[in-house]
Amino acid sequence: VAARHLSTSQVNSDVNRVTVFGAGLMGAGIAQISAQANLKVTLCDVTDKALEVEWSGWTNPGSCSPLSSRTRQAKVTTRKIKPTDIDRNGLNIISKSVARVAKKKAPEDVEGFTQRVLANIETTTDTEKAVSNTDLVVEAIIENIKIKRDLFGYLDKKAPASTIFASNTSSLSITEIAEACSDARQANFAGLHFFNPVPAMKLVEVIKTDKTSEETFKTLYEITKKMGKVPVSCRDTPGFIVNRLLVPYMLEAIRMIERGDATAEDIDTAMKLGAGYPMGPFELLDFVGLDTTQYIADGWVEKAKDGAVPLELVTPPQVLKDLVKKGELGRKSGKGFYDYSDAKK
Ligand code: 3HC
Repeated sequence: VAARHLSTSQVNSDVNRVTVFGAGLMGAGIAQISAQANLKVTLCDVTDKALEVEWSGWTNPGSCSPLSSRTRQAKVTTRKIKPTDIDRNGLNIISKSVARVAKKKAPEDVEGFTQRVLANIETTTDTEKAVSNTDLVVEAIIENIKIKRDLFGYLDKKAPASTIFASNTSSLSITEIAEACSDARQANFAGLHFFNPVPAMKLVEVIKTDKTSEETFKTLYEITKKMGKVPVSCRDTPGFIVNRLLVPYMLEAIRMIERGDATAEDIDTAMKLGAGYPMGPFELLDFVGLDTTQYIADGWVEKAKDGAVPLELVTPPQVLKDLVKKGELGRKSGKGFYDYSDAKK
């Protein structure tokens, strides 16, 4: 009750500066659409490598915690992204995507549009500085509750009291992440779940916990509209809306091929032409990443013990586990349910 009371006077509802943690695919996309909305963006990751070169994910989560000793010792850098860096830096992801957007939004001035968007983005490895003067933090780092809590617990002490904190987690509990912060901050804390590819997917799920203040929620709702997205609201439940429906659907598609009911190709064709989905479940599994899907399912098997989700819906099928074990993770590894080695799909 105290947290609710405090929050209404402390939230900064005029969001102009956004700090994004995690320079992977999702973080880069969130930084990009924020910059396109003319917000001032700081993109923060723990290494220059993650910020500057094409990034393939966190391979060793334990050592990547923003509070790990390796990170504390890491060289701190802050710099503006220059369009001339495009060929070699990993904002590569952003640059390529902005150019794609520019072709549609400003076909007569693709270069100028791209430069204006990039000029709104600064990168840094300095976690403390990244939040010293920001209105909104959006976290898109590895899906590991300990590392996320570690980050937010640290940021809580460094960011202004009025800064809103949001997590882009796709499957973890926002309440449990927020509990790493003070009561007052928990009122300024919510989920902000984007979809891949962020620049193209219109939806954002805005997740309220029992402690999220109405003002925080409204501010996030409005800012996502400014980012060109369509917000929907959901309680803090496993998978929120989309993943709660999508993940069991994709797992059942895998069970269908395990049972020999139909082939992956026929199931994909059926769902595209019979249900109007842009991708079939196996194309989508490869797109999302089989490791990510298994990770979500494994987490929910734990939650199923408390009755939060039905166990039979979320148990990862053997075929999924076997592919992940072989390192066949989907598009990002060149092979999953389909082979991408000669860019067939
Ligand atoms: N950057 C900028 N724009 C992009 C883009 C990118 N990375 N990717 C696609 N686009 C734009 C294109 O420019 C194009 O715009 P236009 O229609 O205005 O010209 C539009 O998106 C469609 O792209 P394409 O024509 O290249 O290709 P498709 O029509 O095949 O669409 C797709 C590609 C948008 C990826 C479509 O296949 C799709 O919607 N697939 C399903 C994706 C999905 O379900 N994502 C959610 C996954 S679940 C998730 O993210 C949750 C997580 O928590 C697990």
